[in-house]
Amino acid sequence: MTNKPTIAILGGTGHEGAGLALRWASNGYEVIIGSRKEEKALNAARELNQILGKETIRGMENPAAAREADINVLTVVATAHEAAVTGLKDDLQGKILVDATARIKFPNPKPPVPPAAARIAQDILGEGVRVVAAFQNIPASALKNLEKELDSDVLVCADHQEDADQVMELIRGAGMNAYYVGDLDIAITIEGLTAVLVYLNKYNDIKHASIKIVGD
Ligand SMILES: NC(=O)c1ccc[n+]([C@@H]2O[C@H](COP(=O)([O-])OP(=O)(O)OC[C@H]3O[C@@H](n4cnc5c(N)ncnc54)[C@H](OP(=O)(O)O)[C@@H]3O)[C@@H](O)[C@H]2O)c1
Repeated sequence: MTNKPTIAILGGTGHEGAGLALRWASNGYEVIIGSRKEEKALNAARELNQILGKETIRGMENPAAAREADINVLTVVATAHEAAVTGLKDDLQGKILVDATARIKFPNPKPPVPPAAARIAQDILGEGVRVVAAFQNIPASALKNLEKELDSDVLVCADHQEDADQVMELIRGAGMNAYYVGDLDIAITIEGLTAVLVYLNKYNDIKHASIKIVGD
């Protein structure tokens, strides 16, 4: 038994979700991969467990995963963000939803326009769900490479700092630093910063640009 919260990653069959699942599961957290299709979730969980060398990650359909978890993380493809949030509204009530969405289009991203994806999610879900924005600047490729320690900082937004505090504990549990930077409206800047990171990679021969905060 563990006193760590169970984390469901909704849309966890994709790149970012798989990376986060690996980081948390390898640090002793119970992780559930969610998908629109149970079989896809089970297959993704099996593949990740093979990488980890232990049977630890489970797979479920998104609604069941959301209900089972203590904390949910949303990593569906950005174009499906609103529809996915709307569809999971009932299953998420009473819980924290960590929204990783960065609405930028490849290969030439432009900064997204307000409101932030996390603010849209909060408006859809209502007060019964506490949305926290995080991970927009953390590349999936870096998360998935378990041989390399993560040297990135995660900027975290939430309307209530105590919700961000809970998520920042999880982020530290996955091996990253975390900083609270304000309410969900601030998250639009963090989404836009992801576009900057894409151009940093493109023009500077960098592979997984992310951010590190300095200062006394
Ligand atoms: N990739 C990165 O490096 C990165 C970094 C920072 C933030 N993010 C953010 O993380 C999120 C996921 O990015 P990703 O690169 O991991 O995406 P992805 O691999 O392309 O897709 C993630 C998952 O989205 C689900 N999905 C696709 N269409 C859907 C729909 N119509 N409704 C509901 N779910 C749908 C799929 O899961 P099922 O088919 O199993 O349901 C898919 O496995 C995005 O919001 C992105 O902005 C990504």
